[in-house]
Amino acid sequence: MVSSHRVTLIPGDGIGPEVTRAAVSVIDAAGVSIDWDEVEAGADIVAKYGTPVPDHVLHSIRTHGVALKGPIGTPVGGGFRSANVTMRQSLELYASIRPVKNVPGVETRFEGVDLILVRENTEGLYSGIEHRVAPGIVESLKVVTEFASNRIAEAAFKLAEDEGRREVCAVHKANIMKMSDGLFLECARKVAKRHPSIEYREIIIDNCAMQLVKDPTRFDMLLLENLYGDILSDLCAGLVGGLGVVPGANLGEDCAIFEAVHGSAPDIAGKGVANPTAVILSSVMMLRHLGEADAADRIERAVYATLAEPALRTRDLGGNADLAAYTASLIERLG
Ligand code: NAI
Repeated sequence: MVSSHRVTLIPGDGIGPEVTRAAVSVIDAAGVSIDWDEVEAGADIVAKYGTPVPDHVLHSIRTHGVALKGPIGTPVGGGFRSANVTMRQSLELYASIRPVKNVPGVETRFEGVDLILVRENTEGLYSGIEHRVAPGIVESLKVVTEFASNRIAEAAFKLAEDEGRREVCAVHKANIMKMSDGLFLECARKVAKRHPSIEYREIIIDNCAMQLVKDPTRFDMLLLENLYGDILSDLCAGLVGGLGVVPGANLGEDCAIFEAVHGSAPDIAGKGVANPTAVILSSVMMLRHLGEADAADRIERAVYATLAEPALRTRDLGGNADLAAYTASLIERLG
């Protein structure tokens, strides 16, 4: 087989190796030739390299320009800095794109959900600037820059135009964080004026959360700063069948990492029951990015054809197939 693409593969922690292996086998079965450069990142290598993201991992992604990544766990309240945040910041993967739509055949409370979250990925409260002011008092700084806010707003409007979308809705809390979220909105408004074919509106995050769970079809695209994007991504996943089905891409000017919205799911890791759909659909986004639209379409159709049969689904979607059986059914359905 002649290799046409070279892509970094990061299996990740918890269910990461299981679900990325499934994605690799589906891509292979679809006939796309990828020469994977597999590298490790995460908790298991901290003892060896002193960091969860050694330089050779970043170098591999910079060299190939594209990575498929499994989730990586982050210790709570202490320990090393998030490997995910480190990669996104070091590689300037400033735009997190998360399409959330109903999966045909998977019944949820709402029909017709089809929205895209565009999350700023490099700053806000994820800047990691925290310090102890005095015993019992800590500060965490939310950093918002005009540069990054303009950049993410521009990415959202450009995507809206490319995808034939109707509206971008900026999500904020500028009534309280008047300066930081205020600057984010100021930039979004200016960028919106340069894209008059796309409608623009704003909504306060708490109201947005309530409106989303009442009727998500009111939204088309959401433009969010880092923390709001993180939280509402999971909320939106819950509207269409859960974390097992929502893919994502982290895009910068020079590189891209494709990964599911979900984490390493330690509660089901190693049991062979995880749903690989989100990582497989992230691969579909990756294949489109690589110019392999035909294979991407075939895999997407095979995912939907498999999920349309309740007995073939994994446990999280009410079925009883394990990861291996689900992946095999999906491969059988590749046209
Ligand atoms: P999680 O997303 O790992 O799991 C939340 C719930 O969803 C669990 O009940 C889990 O079993 C279920 N779930 C998630 N993915 C699933 C799948 N593919 N199939 C079936 N069920 C699935 O969130 P949690 O537990 O808060 O985080 C675990 C670890 O993952 C943490 O260390 C966190 O920092 C990390 N994380 C990493 C991310 C990444 O690498 N991009 C994203 C989010 C969290």
